[in-house]
Amino acid sequence: MSAAAGEELLDLARTVGLEAAELVRSTRPVGRVDVAATKSSPTDVVTEIDKACERLIRDRLLAERPHDGFMGEESDELVGSSGVDWIVDPIDGTVNFIHGIPAYAVSIGVRHDGRMLAGYVVNIATGEEWGAVLGSGAWRYVGDDRVVLLAPEAAPLARAVVASGFHYVREIRAKQAAAMAAFLPQVADIRRTGSAALNLCALAEGQFDMYFEEGLHLWDQAAGGLVATESGLVVTGLDGEPDERMVMAAHPAMAEEYFALVRACGF
Ligand code: IPD
Repeated sequence: MSAAAGEELLDLARTVGLEAAELVRSTRPVGRVDVAATKSSPTDVVTEIDKACERLIRDRLLAERPHDGFMGEESDELVGSSGVDWIVDPIDGTVNFIHGIPAYAVSIGVRHDGRMLAGYVVNIATGEEWGAVLGSGAWRYVGDDRVVLLAPEAAPLARAVVASGFHYVREIRAKQAAAMAAFLPQVADIRRTGSAALNLCALAEGQFDMYFEEGLHLWDQAAGGLVATESGLVVTGLDGEPDERMVMAAHPAMAEEYFALVRACGF
């Protein structure tokens, strides 16, 4: 598929993403949001607003493109026939959303024949937006203008500010805590901001030197991962493609050193 087709799909992702973000903003009550259900663990939660947001995105996308596939965090997978799949997290950073911490995002990725083609992320609380098209770069939107993102070189390990996150499952968190105890003294500091999509966009802008996390689903990282790679970052897994086992992202100049440390610490 051409870059022009990627742009068209990105435009649709942005139109629908902005509508979805507005739905969440306008229905979120002041204070804490009620949890509707739990998923993989008592701390892996979903709200009625997550579900309504995904319904809106799914309905709008499939109304425009009825032959596409759809994979979302809150609904059953739909297999399409066009070769295009939408990979959607209606609210990435649900825990932040529930608590009112302003870092939660609509994340919409577009895959064509198994390869990420376009990605769109909007921070629902702040309105900040990012986009990327395969081979055409990554940018932050300022109004309708695009500020192109070229990820800055990362700092040496001892000065690195590293973003990460922790699993919802208790036993895996215990293992991660031990690995983090080995990792933390080797770098300047870590941040846990609670949205994988926003972490990847922030990394592309230079807020962090590296991001890694174990246990992400495809919808958490599909759109942000393309923003990161199109800004010039390396995004990989423990031994090959990024997957649920591990997503690691950093500037190519430091990537090998950073990633080797993650492995050595036992993540
Ligand atoms: C979560 C966020 C969080 C990460 C979790 C994800 P959700 O997504 O991206 O930062 O640590 O692993 O599951 O559940 O809020 O959509």
